[in-house]
Amino acid sequence: MPQAHIAYDDRTLSEWIGAEEKDAYRANVALAEEMLQKGTGQGNDFTGWLDLPKRVSGDEITAVNDKAAELRDKSQLLICIGIGGSYLGARATIDFLSASFEDLRSPRVVFAGHQLNSDYLDDLRKLFDKNDVVVNVISKSGTTTEPGVIFRIVRQWMESRYGKQEAAARIVATTDPQKGALRKLATEESYATFSIPGDVGGRFSVLTPVGLFPIAYAGIDIAQLVAGAADAMSLCGGSDLETNLSARYAVNRNILFRRGKTIEMMASLQPQLHYVAEWWKQLYGESEGKNLTGIFPAAADYTTDLHSLGQWMQEGLRNVFETFVVLKNVATSWTVPEFDSDDDGLNYLKKQSLEYVNDNAYKGTLLAHLDGDVPASTLTLDTRSPETLGQLFYFYEKAVALSGYLLRVNPFNQPGVEAYKRNMFALLSKPGFEEQGAVLQQRLRGIGL
Ligand code: PA5
Repeated sequence: MPQAHIAYDDRTLSEWIGAEEKDAYRANVALAEEMLQKGTGQGNDFTGWLDLPKRVSGDEITAVNDKAAELRDKSQLLICIGIGGSYLGARATIDFLSASFEDLRSPRVVFAGHQLNSDYLDDLRKLFDKNDVVVNVISKSGTTTEPGVIFRIVRQWMESRYGKQEAAARIVATTDPQKGALRKLATEESYATFSIPGDVGGRFSVLTPVGLFPIAYAGIDIAQLVAGAADAMSLCGGSDLETNLSARYAVNRNILFRRGKTIEMMASLQPQLHYVAEWWKQLYGESEGKNLTGIFPAAADYTTDLHSLGQWMQEGLRNVFETFVVLKNVATSWTVPEFDSDDDGLNYLKKQSLEYVNDNAYKGTLLAHLDGDVPASTLTLDTRSPETLGQLFYFYEKAVALSGYLLRVNPFNQPGVEAYKRNMFALLSKPGFEEQGAVLQQRLRGIGL
């Protein structure tokens, strides 16, 4: 068994989940595991992520690292353009493993195309003007509006600063191997490209070039990230609930959901986990929220949010369960200084580390929330390393696939995302949507918009 960098402690759930109740899930977990491994479940053409960590070859890692190094040599800034699964894995990894303040990062990766805001873009332009820039545009379908629109603007900036040829040498497109508008554009403009395997959906794509290229540009060891995920394949495999971490987490979530705990709060105790939680929210929200079912994934940063959402968690509607994510070791240790005057009464913490204080905040919150009827368990990460994060990514991916099958939904599609797109296209008068546009405009007039 490989070394585990993550641990899942669910002993604190015993008040809500009995051993017999878990036992009753064993057959369903075995079936869900078999459906995944044999490809007999819903969405089975999107299960390529299952053995992806072992499929990523040394040559692929080298190709990504080489391109990243080549572009790093001529730039200080990578503008990474994408949305949803084509954005969050890289952002989560870079934020988790890099310096807390962007000014301390070199080279820098900034993100665009995940929203539509001119003021944000104007600030991006200011950064663009101060740096040598390279661009990674990422879209599996190649037709997503937000990154498409932003890439048009950034491409124009690039071409007018560097000329068409050098701009093209500074742009990398990550997209479908054959089809889609971005593939066509990349071929016409001679952009370097990376391909996204057809059997890996957006939110499961962090270990494809979607995540790996920007992560490599940021100077993070992508081989270690992939190796961590490969190790997690055995930590999260098999149908034994005692040894399969993902299955245990998936079963607990499903039992709690059936008890009316319809919200899961991922409560992390470290600011560097903020975007890991955003990635998790996307993975779980898009995978489970369909057919009028699904656990709502919410996230909080503690202790920050104990001064906002903490009140609701302690005493609000009891339809929530909580999974703490705790980091065991940090690289540095700042301690509380002693002052003779002790005006603020904090000398009792003298020479104690911030981690000691934070750890007791976690333990105190865990006990308080358990007392407040919030079923809570804890995931512990040992260090802020690529291997640990690789294991965490795989743990969550495997768990949501099992959990989706236990909920009897297809965890690999996202049909609900199309509804807003259709309306937006109609309202924007996209060719082919004219009739629907007229109907929607009338409805909007009816509500005064
Ligand atoms: O998980 C998913 O499939 C989605 O969140 C997509 O990643 C997102 O919609 C972006 O799609 P695309 O990469 O096609 O632009």
